[in-house]
Amino acid sequence: MMGTRRSLHLSTFVLETLLLLFYAASGTYCSVVHGNTTDRCSLLDFKKAITDDPTGALSNWNENVHHCMWSGVNCSTRHPGRVTVLRLYDLDLAGKITSSIGNLTFLRELSLDFNRFSGQLPPLNRLRKLVSLSIVFNLLEGNILDAVIALENCSKIEVLDLSGNMLVGSIPRNIGSLSNLRVISFLANNLTGTIPPTFSNMTCLVAIELAANQLEGSIPEELGKQPNMLQVILYENSLSGRIPATLFNLSQLFYLDLRKNMFTGTVPSNIGDTLPSLEYLYLGTNKLEGHVPDSLGNASELGELDLQSNCFTGIIPSSLGKLHQLNYLNLDKNKVEARKSHEFLSALSNCSNLYTLSLNGNHLHGVLPNSVGNLSTTLRRLDLGGNYLSGTVPPSIGALKNLEYLHLGGNNFVGTIPDSIGNLANLTNLYLSDNQFDGW
Ligand SMILES: *[C@@H]1O[C@H](CO)[C@@H](O)[C@H](O)[C@H]1NC(C)=O
Ligand SMILES: *[C@@H]1O[C@H](CO)[C@@H](O)[C@H](O)[C@H]1NC(C)=O
Ligand SMILES: *[C@@H]1O[C@H](CO)[C@@H](O)[C@H](O)[C@H]1NC(C)=O
Ligand SMILES: *[C@@H]1O[C@H](CO)[C@@H](O)[C@H](O)[C@H]1NC(C)=O
Ligand SMILES: *[C@@H]1O[C@H](CO)[C@@H](O)[C@H](O)[C@H]1NC(C)=O
Ligand SMILES: *[C@@H]1O[C@H](CO)[C@@H](O)[C@H](O)[C@H]1NC(C)=O
Ligand SMILES: *[C@@H]1O[C@H](CO)[C@@H](O)[C@H](O)[C@H]1NC(C)=O
Ligand SMILES: *[C@@H]1O[C@H](CO)[C@@H](O)[C@H](O)[C@H]1NC(C)=O
Ligand SMILES: *[C@@H]1O[C@H](CO)[C@@H](O)[C@H](O)[C@H]1NC(C)=O
Ligand SMILES: *[C@@H]1O[C@H](CO)[C@@H](O)[C@H](O)[C@H]1NC(C)=O
Ligand SMILES: *[C@@H]1O[C@H](CO)[C@@H](O)[C@H](O)[C@H]1NC(C)=O
Repeated sequence: MMGTRRSLHLSTFVLETLLLLFYAASGTYCSVVHGNTTDRCSLLDFKKAITDDPTGALSNWNENVHHCMWSGVNCSTRHPGRVTVLRLYDLDLAGKITSSIGNLTFLRELSLDFNRFSGQLPPLNRLRKLVSLSIVFNLLEGNILDAVIALENCSKIEVLDLSGNMLVGSIPRNIGSLSNLRVISFLANNLTGTIPPTFSNMTCLVAIELAANQLEGSIPEELGKQPNMLQVILYENSLSGRIPATLFNLSQLFYLDLRKNMFTGTVPSNIGDTLPSLEYLYLGTNKLEGHVPDSLGNASELGELDLQSNCFTGIIPSSLGKLHQLNYLNLDKNKVEARKSHEFLSALSNCSNLYTLSLNGNHLHGVLPNSVGNLSTTLRRLDLGGNYLSGTVPPSIGALKNLEYLHLGGNNFVGTIPDSIGNLANLTNLYLSDNQFDGW
């Protein structure tokens, strides 16, 4: 057995050496296209269309080196010479992606992230083994429809990431036929139209990122019916309507970012119980109303909560104090209130990782309690501006020794400004104007 294997190994070696000699000797090695040498030819054709390679990344793509050894290239072990991976990451390469790439029929991964590839995505529909296509932050142009058509029949594809290009048009319904997709990311393009309701067959979907486009209409209910969904990232579009209830029913969802849209309606009161895995909840800059749900205190992993610039009303729930991971809480520009004793503020002193507490432009009213000084010393940014707060500023505020930003302006504070603020060594931004301090 051993001997046989060794001689087999040896003969492969001899053959490859012969092939190398052949490549080296022949200037026209691509004119004869037969068997697995087509992959070499396809790669050379791809290289020919690269107009700029400032780092010399493709310098070993030459006749002295077997194409499976070229940088960024990997080949199949069972099918010698057949390219399975083409990964050229952050190399500042410029040029068009030639259609010869569509002949690398054993390709599983094509990653050209952070380069300057331009033009349209060539037809890739012969790449039936393709699992991952990632061309993030390049200069791809054309219609997303053509890009999806280019992938027709790549039924194994799991990751489709074309973020950060210049693609236009509407996401076609037939993207639903790529039913093994786990990750769809078209973030930061110029897509228009609505999100198609064709995700119901995509039971593997874990992440959908369509942020920073010009999408409109509402979120299709189907999007929330993916039991494995982890991330829904749709910020900076013109989406509207109510957020579908299904989206608040994803028990594994940890990242929800719907900022800067035009969503209306309320946040379900049991959100913290139905989304127990939430770590990032960003709903800022929409037209949401109703209360900040008490149940958020049950989403025990929650680290960042952004509800700014909406129309939330009611009392800030003290249950937020249960969130030990909470580092960012922003309720700016709503109409939320505090109970007379500012209960929520003492509750928040349990949040030992709090970094930002921003409540600017709300209806807090009343006297700022001493317990403000019991907030975690991890706090860097405290914004209580524009809130009708009255009485004196408690000296305990000087205990927040790592504060860099303190905004108390636009309230009804009276008396003297506590000396303790002078001890805040790292304070770079201090706003106290528009109050009724003595001597101002
Ligand atoms: C190619 O395969 C080798 C060995 O399996 C691996 O270490 C390397 O990271 C792979 N390279 C690429 C570009 O996938
Ligand atoms: C082409 O395939 C044959 C048989 O599968 C293999 O022996 C040979 O090494 C391959 N050629 C290249 C260039 O890898
Ligand atoms: C792809 O391969 C076919 C043969 O299988 C060949 O006729 C065609 O020219 C190739 N296309 C490109 C763009 O290399
Ligand atoms: C996709 O596959 C179907 C069925 O095998 C075939 O009819 C169709 O021509 C293929 N599409 C492309 C663009 O290759
Ligand atoms: C994308 O949209 C932006 C803003 O509307 C515009 O400046 C840019 O020219 C557009 N790009 C393309 C490729 O359409
Ligand atoms: C889901 O798959 C079924 C069967 O393959 C198909 O008939 C249906 O049109 C698909 N639905 C969507 C929304 O793509
Ligand atoms: C949420 O999930 C539960 C259990 O999976 C289901 O019974 C309920 O209908 C779902 N609600 C919505 C609004 O999707
Ligand atoms: C938080 O969770 C507890 C225990 O599961 C439950 O009894 C309580 O009703 C929940 N609170 C809210 C406001 O949903
Ligand atoms: C804050 O911690 C104290 C002491 O551990 C506890 O008694 C109190 O209930 C906590 N408050 C909240 C809102 O979790
Ligand atoms: C601040 O915390 C200390 C220690 O936990 C406690 O004794 C004190 O009453 C708190 N102060 C206020 C104003 O809540
Ligand atoms: C202030 O900032 C410096 C440098 O970032 C840091 O080392 C220090 O711990 C901070 N806090 C205080 C109270 O100086």
